Amino acid sequence: MTAIITFALGLGCCFLLARLCTSYRRLSSIPGPFAAKFTDLWRYRSQNSPGHIARLLQLHRKYGKLVRIGPNHISTSDPAAVPIVYSTNPIWRKGPSYYGAVPVSKNRPVPTIIGMGEAQHTAVRKSVGRAFTTNSLLDYEDSIEATGQDLIRVLSGQINAGTDMGMWLQFFAMDTLIRIAFSDSLGLLGKGEDIDGTLGAVMARFDHWGQWGAMPSADYVFNKSRLATALKGVGDSPLARVAQGMLQAREKDANKAAYKDLCSKFLEGQAKYPELVRQDEILGIIMSTIGAGADTTAGTLTYTLYFLSKHPAAKLSLVQEIEENLSAGTLSRTPKWAEVNRMVYLDAVLKESMRILPIASWGLDRVVPPSGATIAGHFLPGGTIVGCQIDAIQLDQDVYGKDSTAFRPGRWLEANEDQRRRMDRAFLAFSAGKRTCTGVHIAWLEMKKTLPLLLMNFDFDLVDPDQDVTNGIRVSAVKYPPPVPMRITKRIL
Ligand code: HEM
Repeated sequence: MTAIITFALGLGCCFLLARLCTSYRRLSSIPGPFAAKFTDLWRYRSQNSPGHIARLLQLHRKYGKLVRIGPNHISTSDPAAVPIVYSTNPIWRKGPSYYGAVPVSKNRPVPTIIGMGEAQHTAVRKSVGRAFTTNSLLDYEDSIEATGQDLIRVLSGQINAGTDMGMWLQFFAMDTLIRIAFSDSLGLLGKGEDIDGTLGAVMARFDHWGQWGAMPSADYVFNKSRLATALKGVGDSPLARVAQGMLQAREKDANKAAYKDLCSKFLEGQAKYPELVRQDEILGIIMSTIGAGADTTAGTLTYTLYFLSKHPAAKLSLVQEIEENLSAGTLSRTPKWAEVNRMVYLDAVLKESMRILPIASWGLDRVVPPSGATIAGHFLPGGTIVGCQIDAIQLDQDVYGKDSTAFRPGRWLEANEDQRRRMDRAFLAFSAGKRTCTGVHIAWLEMKKTLPLLLMNFDFDLVDPDQDVTNGIRVSAVKYPPPVPMRITKRIL
């Protein structure tokens, strides 16, 4: 008996060793941390401890444009890789790490846009894509304006107080998106706190993705399999409850044809193409849209105010642009899309903020098609997982200049046509290719309307001028800022 056990254990060890050797040899010419050549545990550990992105940047500085961060996983900092990895022909499918983004509600995984396979994604885009086009933007202006007024009202009660702007902007972004989706507000700004754990649920979803993205099989076994969900008793997510309630109210609303929000556009799209998207899938699509769009926009606006406070000259230039447009009558006190979309310095400020601190911490991983691909001079066999490391690419000195780590919005305006094209092509804050951020136009609309609104009413300064937000970023799939206490003073333009 002992001999059989010893033999079985020996066989198991040999099998494991053979697997480790095969894993190691597959991409052995690409440098990286020693442990990452054999196991995904290196990436799992790194993603679960503070400083993951700083670690990746350091690895790229040490090893160059390709770093092996898993047995079958490559991170690239090469801007030339962007059009290859996010090519539209052929489309490189998303990597397995996106499984981490699939939420579980009522004991089963919910389909979510970000984690969908290509065929389902194409069907969803055809059915509900109209809701995200530039032509639909004007339908959402009222929702952003109504929530903008709520924000101004609550901040007026915070004058001279050191208040966490990250928190207010998180309430604002969630209230805005619920209004864009359902023409109704959750009322987070009014209450000044999370309601029924809705925001907490969105954050928990990103945290889960950040924690488990490196180990999708373990995520399935421990969190998403039937057994795991039954043992844990995963119920409805608070966001699902809110969205479900509003969706049901809409279905019963006698006046439903009058709405122009995301919900009405999704329902219209579903009715037009019932063979592409089932009615019961609309809830998942709405939830994933709200989940993807709220904290990303809030964090980006928070970091932008932070950078402006750190760089008074940039803040002054933006305030001057706002002031000049107000005096010229080309900007209303309730900014309109047609007005703010012409403001070049505003555009440069937001881009520069997203360049230096892109909100996504997840890897934008894609799978190399079967024919293989050459990235940064290396041939990568089909099936290899490659992610363009956003932070590293957006700091590339050849593309953005020797001072690429500095916050300097002017670089976007000084660049000649060719340089600007290269800068835009390497700008990955919203990703690229077919699976680029679905809500990109809505995000621009919301941010370009809100930033001037805030700055024409208030001035913002960091309570601690030496605060470095990068020290407190949360371990998650999104770079959630730490509290950013700001002193707010009234500004009259
Ligand atoms: C500053 C704000 C935002 C940033 C920086 C941002 C960034 C991103 C990024 C990097 C992706 C990943 C794409 C990929 O996996 O390659 C993404 C996906 C997505 N975003 Fe955004 N986002 C923002 C706001 C929004 C808003 C406001 C919405 C909705 C109204 C939204 C909806 C989505 C959806 C549905 C996806 C999944 C797309 C897909 O997988 O095809 N996002 N976003």
